[in-house]
Amino acid sequence: MSGFDAGWLALREPVDHASRHAGLAAQVREHFAGRESLVVVDLGCGTGSNLRALAPSLPPRQHWRLIDGDAALLAAARQRLADWADDVRPTAGGVELHKDGRRIEVNLECADLATRDLDFTDLGAGLVTAAALFDLVSEDWLERLVACSARQRVPLYSVLNYDGTARWQPENPLDARVVAAFNRHQRGDKGFGPALGPASGETFAQLLSQHGYRAASGDSPWELAERDAALIARLAEGFAQAAGEIEPEARDAFARWGAGRAAAVRVTIGHRDVFAA
Ligand SMILES: C[S@@+](CC[C@H](N)C(=O)[O-])C[C@H]1O[C@@H](n2cnc3c(N)ncnc32)[C@H](O)[C@@H]1O
Repeated sequence: MSGFDAGWLALREPVDHASRHAGLAAQVREHFAGRESLVVVDLGCGTGSNLRALAPSLPPRQHWRLIDGDAALLAAARQRLADWADDVRPTAGGVELHKDGRRIEVNLECADLATRDLDFTDLGAGLVTAAALFDLVSEDWLERLVACSARQRVPLYSVLNYDGTARWQPENPLDARVVAAFNRHQRGDKGFGPALGPASGETFAQLLSQHGYRAASGDSPWELAERDAALIARLAEGFAQAAGEIEPEARDAFARWGAGRAAAVRVTIGHRDVFAA
């Protein structure tokens, strides 16, 4: 278990897909247009949301290596991908999916990315991607990934990196304090050393440029409204809990804030997408 349960990932998936920066997504599609096949490595794949979002924009034959440290999420990924595909066949390392004329071979790997080798050239990787992961990682880890990828100039595409922005409406006097404490919590160790948290998008773009990549980035905020009430409620609870770990003396006040914020009618959570080739 990683603390990212499949229910939470399912709740956020439609919003994640709708929030991706469209211009950057178009750049990714154009970059690989005309190719017959592509090997994609998805880091911290969860239940496979990134594949479901991205595969329709990529070449007709795809080989995906889905890597996650949580075996339960990988099992859920296998099931969710089978449900998503038009047709599915088991293979030695995973599944072969057929979806809208594309053939997508998927291999699932359970590994701790904090210690795993990040050179994916042995897999023939033509794209390394991650969704909602880089805010969890440390600068050292990200530098290692970019340096390994830069040797063969493997394109990198990272989406939905939290940027520290969280706005709740109607406003509440405690909002700023909770968000500040939550953002401090985001900088704590999430298994990779001190996490980049809200700095991940900017740090990633800097590292890419230092390693000779041409990088483009764009905002991909969640713009949540009443239709997203279930996601807003989980988010409010998560913010209150994380903030309470930073300021234990305010835990009760933050919990009350969370209970009230579950009824917020508009919530903006800032994210950043980055593509580099
Ligand atoms: C916020 S979730 C995002 C999941 C998925 N990419 C998505 O967009 O739905 C972060 C994912 O990273 C995985 N993860 C976190 N730390 C990890 C580590 N050290 N090694 C491998 N996977 C890790 C978690 O298990 C989880 O699936």
